[in-house]
Amino acid sequence: MPRIAYVNGAYTPIEDASVHIEDRGYQFADGIYEVVLYVGGRFWDLDGHLKRWARSLAELQIRAPMSENALRIVIKKLIEKNRLKDCMIYMQATRGVSPRNHPFPPLDTAPALVLTAKPIDLEKQNAKAAKGISVITAPDIRWGRVDIKTVGLLPNCLAKEAAVRAGATEAWLIRNGKVTEGSSSNAWIVDDKGQLITHPLGEEILGGITRQTAIACAESLQMKVIERAFTVEEALKAREAFITSAMNLVTPVIAIDGRKIGDGAPGPIAARLRSAYIDRCAAA
Ligand code: PDD
Repeated sequence: MPRIAYVNGAYTPIEDASVHIEDRGYQFADGIYEVVLYVGGRFWDLDGHLKRWARSLAELQIRAPMSENALRIVIKKLIEKNRLKDCMIYMQATRGVSPRNHPFPPLDTAPALVLTAKPIDLEKQNAKAAKGISVITAPDIRWGRVDIKTVGLLPNCLAKEAAVRAGATEAWLIRNGKVTEGSSSNAWIVDDKGQLITHPLGEEILGGITRQTAIACAESLQMKVIERAFTVEEALKAREAFITSAMNLVTPVIAIDGRKIGDGAPGPIAARLRSAYIDRCAAA
């Protein structure tokens, strides 16, 4: 069965799906996106992702391509058309098509909307989390508003590629001596008192939806969460480290730049938080 994409009002086999060469997303990265999981017949954190979708659009003054309710219907229909069970939905909106010119196009320019769906295997993901991942560090060379989930991800891609070339899975980005976040995830450590530490919200990180739910899970497990920036030195001395994102849920980090965290194996706190996160999403 061919994969079906949603492109500006039509459900189209992915091979035939295309956008205009003068789409501002293509020329200026003038667009935003979200990634949402659908597992066991439920969306995980969909409300949070749709809220951030609306916020990103508003921050960039891009008109919403459709109402939230209509978008929910398109997402469901896309999953049905692809006959998918567990999958991830990628959704992207741009300021639309207009002859290349830096200022915004005329106000009546229709924003463009594209959605794709891809199967995921939660068992495989769980096996990866059981092993833990390695990260490298890389300078955070991104712009000053990474709280907006724009498709302008070149610095993230460069950092991720450096990680892959080093045999690691993720890059932790460093700004002013502190870890801001990963190239596509939020970064966390657990200190010697068992307290969870992650960068505070603001313009220097993407406010992860998984991060927010993980904080709620941690609190319900009586774990203390401190939202403050931490250094690589602190991370190297941490009891545990982990990342959060829609795709990785809660995934333990066992080494940074080739140096072990703790005993170099996934720790119990990340494991408890991961299962609490999965239970919460599966029951929501
Ligand atoms: N990335 N920080 C960055 C830079 C990200 O790109 C992401 C998500 C996160 C975690 O956000 P959330 O928990 O809402 O997924 C943090 C997505 C998954 C991606 O680009 O594929």
